[in-house]
Amino acid sequence: MHVVGTRPNFPKAAPVVRAIERRDVAQILVHTEQHYDPALSDETMHDVGLREPDYRLGVGSGSHATQTARAMVRLEELIEKVSPAAVVVYGDVNTALAAALVAKKLLLPVVHVEAGLRSGDREMPEEINRVVVDAVADLLLATCQDGVDNLVSEGVAADKIKMVGNPMADSVLTMLGQAVCTPPEGPMYAVVTMHRPANVDSMPAAKATVAAIHHVADQMDVVAVMHPRGRERLDAAGLQRHERVRVSPPIRYAEFVHLVSTAALVLTDSGGIQEETTILGVPCLTLRTTTERPITVTQGTNRLITLANVRREAESVARGTSTRAVMRPALWDGHAGDRIADEILAYLRRTGTNLAAATRHMEPALR
Ligand code: UD1
Repeated sequence: MHVVGTRPNFPKAAPVVRAIERRDVAQILVHTEQHYDPALSDETMHDVGLREPDYRLGVGSGSHATQTARAMVRLEELIEKVSPAAVVVYGDVNTALAAALVAKKLLLPVVHVEAGLRSGDREMPEEINRVVVDAVADLLLATCQDGVDNLVSEGVAADKIKMVGNPMADSVLTMLGQAVCTPPEGPMYAVVTMHRPANVDSMPAAKATVAAIHHVADQMDVVAVMHPRGRERLDAAGLQRHERVRVSPPIRYAEFVHLVSTAALVLTDSGGIQEETTILGVPCLTLRTTTERPITVTQGTNRLITLANVRREAESVARGTSTRAVMRPALWDGHAGDRIADEILAYLRRTGTNLAAATRHMEPALR
């Protein structure tokens, strides 16, 4: 059983679900619906080629406790009904936390895709989710070597950890091959996304975020693609009071990847976008003091910046003087889905699971 629920889950899960389908093993896809707006949910699922979920749980928005608890109660009922052999969770979102806790307490193996990432910042809700999910997971699939190293240093047994590469790269590279929309032509532009609580949840933080965005807009046109979280507060903090800032509602994944692929620069606080820009070779400025994805800085196109130096960084991109040797990290090669499928199935065979031959969807009786 794969459990997904948010926009960043879909590009990671899609290549894994497809790869297991090719190996003819039965699987169940569950969407908690932590995200439910079409651009964040169904349109993005469609773009990355994730099939229609077998179950939708209608969890929706709420405080962390409300959202996680609702997901846990509904997942527990479902897991007891359908008895999967294992539960696969993705990334660091509340959906992954809820699914891992429920599955483990029902004595099922938990597989964590994107294990071992650590920002070291326990004020980030996702950091709590990462630490807890990895603490209960049985098979920990890391996207990069620092993820493996973090887990080993936390005492996780080496035989539970596998370095499989990044399934996000599978989706980004597939997406690039599909001509789904035409990116804007003309002058250089930056794409901006901001949604972290630390950058948008209070008025002082929102004002600082808007100032950073305006520093970029002094250098080039800005398309600010707004996540629903913080949209109103950034607007109230004056986001649109710069003639080169254009605000867009959330856009579906295919459009977003194409928009980023021809951008001169991305300014963000997202985790996934730090990876996507590294895969696409587009310079990325991340308005955070830490990152759980240091490889995007050491090998990729990412830089952590503050309000104090964003202007200088944006200027150097605009002038074309921001040259750095950039390398796509090892195993971010478009084949992570296959490696993950092989590791999951090998784990299940090792632990004696009789894998049902199968079908895309489970028997109706199991629903
Ligand atoms: C969640 C993840 C975050 C990830 C982000 C990607 C957690 C703890 N956080 O943050 O790691 O980077 O998704 O997008 O899981 N909303 C809508 N429509 C939707 C979904 C949400 O309008 O379809 C609004 C609601 O007001 C909601 C708010 O956005 O309260 C926050 O949504 P939530 O899922 O709680 O967290 P994100 O900020 O999206």
